[in-house]
Amino acid sequence: MQTDFIDIADWPDDDEFSAAYPEGARPKRTLFSPLTPDQKYIKPDWRHMFKRSAERYPEQFWAEIIAYEISLLLGISAPPCYAAFDSRNGQCGALSAWFYKDGDESFYSAGNFFHKIVPGFDRERGTQHNIVDCDEFNNRVLGKDQIYGFWSMLLFDMLIGNTDRHQDNWGHLLKAVQLSKSVARRRGDKFDVKWRFAPWFDNGTSLGHELLSEKFSRWDAATLDRYIRRGKHHMRYSRDNLERMGHIESLSFIKSHAGVRVLLLKRLRDFDLNALGAVLERLVDLPAPAGGNLTKARAEFIFRLTQRRAQLAMETLNERN
Ligand SMILES: Nc1ncnc2c1ncn2[C@@H]1O[C@H](COP(=O)(O)OP(=O)(O)OP(=O)(O)O)[C@@H](O)[C@H]1O
Ligand SMILES: [Mg+2]
Repeated sequence: MQTDFIDIADWPDDDEFSAAYPEGARPKRTLFSPLTPDQKYIKPDWRHMFKRSAERYPEQFWAEIIAYEISLLLGISAPPCYAAFDSRNGQCGALSAWFYKDGDESFYSAGNFFHKIVPGFDRERGTQHNIVDCDEFNNRVLGKDQIYGFWSMLLFDMLIGNTDRHQDNWGHLLKAVQLSKSVARRRGDKFDVKWRFAPWFDNGTSLGHELLSEKFSRWDAATLDRYIRRGKHHMRYSRDNLERMGHIESLSFIKSHAGVRVLLLKRLRDFDLNALGAVLERLVDLPAPAGGNLTKARAEFIFRLTQRRAQLAMETLNERN
């Protein structure tokens, strides 16, 4: 649990990766945690990404941090993410721990397989990024039970209102596993490759981050509902139906799969809104550098939004066809 706003001023820069990620929607850089971090919850000598908000939305980094807290409450794997700042210049951002160790595993973003399997795939905007192809590919590399993991992510995205799970905002981790001598001889290969979903990262285009408080503080229940119902995943239905899946519609769509429906309902039932309220209070109270605090108004709005989304998700999954 985060107990202080982390100062990364003395964290060594990661030159190799900073050079590899010069661009992006938001200014970001990678760095290493110290050998003996001041915070117990920070993994020592470990690569982290420090990501500031887009200029237009200065409070956006909070969305990524709160999304991580929601992932914990929902039982979804996301990289740990904390509020941090650089005391040399006062810049604030979200600090996320790297989700794999170089050499042990490699990250393969979904954009890579889409690029291979969809002719003329639009890598820039991902206009053909669709759940049918995701499903087929995931079945192939992970087996049929992957659908539970994948739809847990889609529920998470619905709950936070994530509109940006594009083809390079999720993917797989690959690990080479040495085969026994006899198997290796039979297969003519020394290694097998084990696949798993990477933790679901880049969760900050969510939780109403683009709304200014002057706007959301005036919203009544009907306006809030309209906003939620307009929300869409990045993913499309299929190559033949390139419409983006609505957040709410996605749940109507998956509920015909009885097993997934039961799992998603269980996750929602176990989702503890009181615990979310306590997390938000703790984050509001975190002593912050000038201009970096999570305002009470935003925290309350995020609570209201998430509470309503959880209700609508539950209603949709319970509706009779
Ligand atoms: N915690 C992490 N562990 C490992 N890799 C990460 C982590 N965070 C980000 N990355 C890598 O860095 C890339 C950029 O990070 P991220 O997607 O968070 O930034 P962004 O600027 O919001 O990207 P976008 O272009 O989607 O807006 C990711 O696509 C991923 O490959
Ligand atoms: Mg990204």
